[in-house]
Amino acid sequence: MRPLLFSPLKVGPVELPNRIAVAPMCQYSAHDGCAEDWHLQHWMNLAMSGAGLVTIEATAVERCGRITHGCVGLYDDATERAMKRGLDAARAVALPGTKFAIQLAHAGRKASSRRPWENGQALGPNEDPWKTVSASALPFNDWHVPEALDEAGIERIIKAFVDSAVRAERLGIEVIELHMTHGYLVHQFLSPISNKRTDRWGGSYENRARFGLAIAEAVKAAVGRQTAVGARITGSDWMEEGLSVEDAVRFASDLKARGMDFACVSSGGLDPKARINVGPGYQVAFASEVKRRSGIVTRAVGMIVTPKQAEEILQAGDADQIALGRAFLDNPRWGWHAADELGLDFPRPPQYDRARPKVWPGAALAREA
Ligand SMILES: Cc1cc2nc3c(=O)[nH]c(=O)nc-3n(C[C@H](O)[C@H](O)[C@H](O)COP(=O)(O)O)c2cc1C
Repeated sequence: MRPLLFSPLKVGPVELPNRIAVAPMCQYSAHDGCAEDWHLQHWMNLAMSGAGLVTIEATAVERCGRITHGCVGLYDDATERAMKRGLDAARAVALPGTKFAIQLAHAGRKASSRRPWENGQALGPNEDPWKTVSASALPFNDWHVPEALDEAGIERIIKAFVDSAVRAERLGIEVIELHMTHGYLVHQFLSPISNKRTDRWGGSYENRARFGLAIAEAVKAAVGRQTAVGARITGSDWMEEGLSVEDAVRFASDLKARGMDFACVSSGGLDPKARINVGPGYQVAFASEVKRRSGIVTRAVGMIVTPKQAEEILQAGDADQIALGRAFLDNPRWGWHAADELGLDFPRPPQYDRARPKVWPGAALAREA
């Protein structure tokens, strides 16, 4: 029987050749929102990794929504042109059937910070910092105090998501993932820890969810029928008073009712005090709840590393698709090797065919090493 990992998956209108997705991973290597040569090689590599879906990193919908000075954006013609250059190159070498997704994001109060390798803290006064925004004027940790968005600001950002989605579509990106977790702006509205508003955007679940759902609705209405739209959501804030998997199920159901085609279930990132139990497949239980109870096409992510582990999650019915992040940084041929391990003769680019295990006895030795 064909492994589930390598069976096709329909996500909304989009047919994927298999159930492997590359998770979005910021590279902090853009220049003023514009993708650079680093992205060119990164996307080219991932395009032939064997993953059926390659997700472009968190991409800011407005300049002040970037996390760092190195974050990619898609908010003007220059950022669109830069992304097109990398994407065109990636498509030219992509394995047949490989599709591209983009994660559209706004960092809110977690914007204006340093790259992780520059310690990841808030930008200092001499580092060209910028004003941040959020649901409430509450900082993340001891970072910049954000400005609480007013109605006009909220409308501006909803429109920015729409405008970026339209640009993404123009670039031929098939899947749009709205970033609604990891403590970024939509999450800052949804979680009662960071949202202390008393107007229609805060208080009850309905009010806190309004911003994310409005973005989902507006983006869905703006894109064509050929584009899949979904969201990355929070399975847990890992804090007593924060979001739980119950909220995740409800939010996923509300997203589905607004036409979202999938949910990727992650967790954490809202508050540094959260204690997260990281271990193999540590977020799969959240995905499983969301899938079973909301019925939305669900992706599991987080410390899913081996092909066997990924296959077992699918076989158990805990998710429809598996996203991997660091495993693809470690080994951009993860998909090829997964196929080998699960007993499939996976087509590679003809230029590299002589290293296929069926024709190269060295493959067995290389894997043993
Ligand atoms: C270098 C790096 C950058 C990341 N950037 C993003 C991002 O842009 N958006 C996002 O939602 N998650 C981001 N993440 C989280 C990953 O998408 C993924 O959820 C996480 O690494 C857990 O999966 P893994 O154990 O397979 O790596 C990033 C992770 C890494 C390692």
